[in-house]
Amino acid sequence: MLTGDIGLIVSDLAVDYSGVPAVRGISFDVPAGHAIGLIGPNGAGKSSTLLGIMGAVTRQGTVEVNGQDVGGLSPEKVVRRGVSLVPEGRHIFGALSVRDNLRLGGVGRRSKDGYDDTLAYVLELFPILGEFADRQAGLLSGGQQQQLAIGRALMADPDILMLDEPSLGLSPTAVDSVFDALSAIRQAGKAVLVVEQRAEFTVAFCERTYVLHDGEITLTLQPEDAHNVDKLTKAYFG
Ligand SMILES: Nc1ncnc2c1ncn2[C@@H]1O[C@H](COP(=O)(O)OP(=O)(O)OP(=O)(O)O)[C@@H](O)[C@H]1O
Ligand SMILES: [Mg+2]
Repeated sequence: MLTGDIGLIVSDLAVDYSGVPAVRGISFDVPAGHAIGLIGPNGAGKSSTLLGIMGAVTRQGTVEVNGQDVGGLSPEKVVRRGVSLVPEGRHIFGALSVRDNLRLGGVGRRSKDGYDDTLAYVLELFPILGEFADRQAGLLSGGQQQQLAIGRALMADPDILMLDEPSLGLSPTAVDSVFDALSAIRQAGKAVLVVEQRAEFTVAFCERTYVLHDGEITLTLQPEDAHNVDKLTKAYFG
């Protein structure tokens, strides 16, 4: 870790489904102020890694959040230790207003203090959410819904923000605004773990990107590898 104990340390994380391995003992860390990428083909174990960190699936190995082991804690408690997940497919509450979606994100806060400050931060990051505060969330565009999903996760005031394929199904402009926001979030000192299928973009954006293949980390890429087609192709096809 580059910044003391702040951030996420994953050691020998393994996840299986009824004995079929999905993640086979992987180790990595996500320091504060860094964005770390996790890429790999369908079924590689990317989502399972995030679910394992959250304690949403049975896992082996250790997960340390800000220097503390969160083993055995429920996902709700992991959120209270400072980890938020923006799930694949966003899962916003479409029938509720934008404001109420954000309010629900705040349920996971470690402290009730500072709610208004966090809300102001989220609305500064995503002004559209303030503009559409009373609108039904299901009526927002895909890009706006992704902003809402990220905003909702931030309402828990996490130190570590994890995102599962935030660019999925978005227009290029919407993808740009999501990654601009992630850049600001990283700059604000949070640790960001981003799962993506878009290899080149992710490798360029993140300080480090791990390639996951059949539940194992097979390669670590640096931003300068982003345009190295050979290396990226190998990373995907072995
Ligand atoms: N709930 C589940 N029950 C049984 N097997 C599962 C379950 N979820 C995932 N798997 C299996 O675990 C493996 C890893 O899946 P996972 O969803 O973690 O991969 P992924 O890298 O996120 O893939 P994708 O890019 O398609 O989202 C796959 O073989 C998948 O079929
Ligand atoms: Mg997935």
